[in-house]
Amino acid sequence: MNIHFDEKNLLADMVGKANGLSRSEIERSQGKALKALKSFRRQSDEGRYGFPHLPFQTGAIQAIGRYADEARGSFDTVCVVGIGGSALGAWALDCGVRGPHPVQGAFTTEHPRLVILDNVDPSFTEAALASMDPRRTLVAVIAKSGGTAETVATFLIVRDWLEQAIGRPKAARQILAVTTEGKGDLFALSQAEGYRVFGIPENVGGRFSVLSPAGLLPAALIGIDIRKLARGARRMTHLCWQPDAGENIALRMALCHWLIWTRKAKSIQVAFPYSNHLWGTAFWFRQLWAESLGKARNRAGEEVHTGQTPVAALGTTDQHSQVQLYIEGPNDKVFTFWAVAKFSSAGKIPKRRFNLGAFDALAGRSLAELIDAERRATAAALVENGRPNCTITLDRVDEEHLGAFLQMMEFQTAFMGELLDIDAFDQEGVELGKRFTYGLMGRAGFEKYRRQFTAYEKKRKAL
Ligand code: PA5
Repeated sequence: MNIHFDEKNLLADMVGKANGLSRSEIERSQGKALKALKSFRRQSDEGRYGFPHLPFQTGAIQAIGRYADEARGSFDTVCVVGIGGSALGAWALDCGVRGPHPVQGAFTTEHPRLVILDNVDPSFTEAALASMDPRRTLVAVIAKSGGTAETVATFLIVRDWLEQAIGRPKAARQILAVTTEGKGDLFALSQAEGYRVFGIPENVGGRFSVLSPAGLLPAALIGIDIRKLARGARRMTHLCWQPDAGENIALRMALCHWLIWTRKAKSIQVAFPYSNHLWGTAFWFRQLWAESLGKARNRAGEEVHTGQTPVAALGTTDQHSQVQLYIEGPNDKVFTFWAVAKFSSAGKIPKRRFNLGAFDALAGRSLAELIDAERRATAAALVENGRPNCTITLDRVDEEHLGAFLQMMEFQTAFMGELLDIDAFDQEGVELGKRFTYGLMGRAGFEKYRRQFTAYEKKRKAL
């Protein structure tokens, strides 16, 4: 497992004092980083936060692996019904290991297709159902809370679709529930209907659950080697507990990002993978960073309204749509390039002579060379314009590196939460919208929110 972090382009020597950090500034903050590490370690050891422990829960990982081995051969589609942290991890893993959807290999019962029903767009849901054969589809309904409106609504449609096609008893055997054991409506329904349940530990929040059954079950069902994922994540976890920020990449990244954000006012972070395989992971990261760090209050209860806005951009594609803004627009961003050292193929460009400048320069080279040159060129252009950036390099995108990378990003987020002195693991801010929705949909117990919403509408009408 080989992952590097290069922070040189965050330094004042490269981007100037107004936008960059001095080495001594980083050095002076090491004590704060160590304090953040110790504080998070204590809370993790106390069992308050569970994600660091997930890759070591070999019993649960083996049980998922065994189930997937038994199911293999009978289904050509795995349909995930879930949203947010209950969908993005599965997408990141699918996209990471098997590639972006339009170019994935042929789907077979050995390597089923993954269909994720996260949004409640009715046309999307209808089209997705029409594309699947209910006799050959395994459904995984995933909800930590067991009561998320989008997941419940879509699941009711999918369940009906299955039952009508293959009958209730068979459908129950083709439905798996991933939720908190012993709690919530989805667990209760699973007990009543006889669905097999895979538990998400209570101390693992949605956006930190990719290495729990929420991500591992769909991954194993579509043929991803989850043992290798866990192995990479275990190795990374050991590194993430190292007190020396030289060895501990997650801690060093958290510290550098914290400094550049809070001292140089870079309130936007652009996650810039130069790999289509990492595109799903960029969206997974966007949720992790936004929901964990966007907070109204610190732990002391003071109003802070903190948060760094994460943006996902794809290299090289978005060089042709975003980089103009990044270079010449407001200098309020820090860029994190995600580079891949070895692609599965070099993408050799045929050697031909045309006596035409652009063609002759590229003939005989490779796409791997070009994508690398474009990333380094963009980093340099950003530096020339005083725009701080840094680079994480993964040796390659395989199960082991992906497991390590996801775990590293979760640790980075947890350390950042400590540095900001906020609770990175709650998400009170999204609750009001959810309550309004239930009020509008007439759920019992949510009448107060319906009334509050009606008052809001009245105010709008008066304008
Ligand atoms: O990170 C979180 O906790 C949230 O984004 C959840 O993942 C999301 O709201 C879905 O929740 P649930 O898994 O309970 O359906």
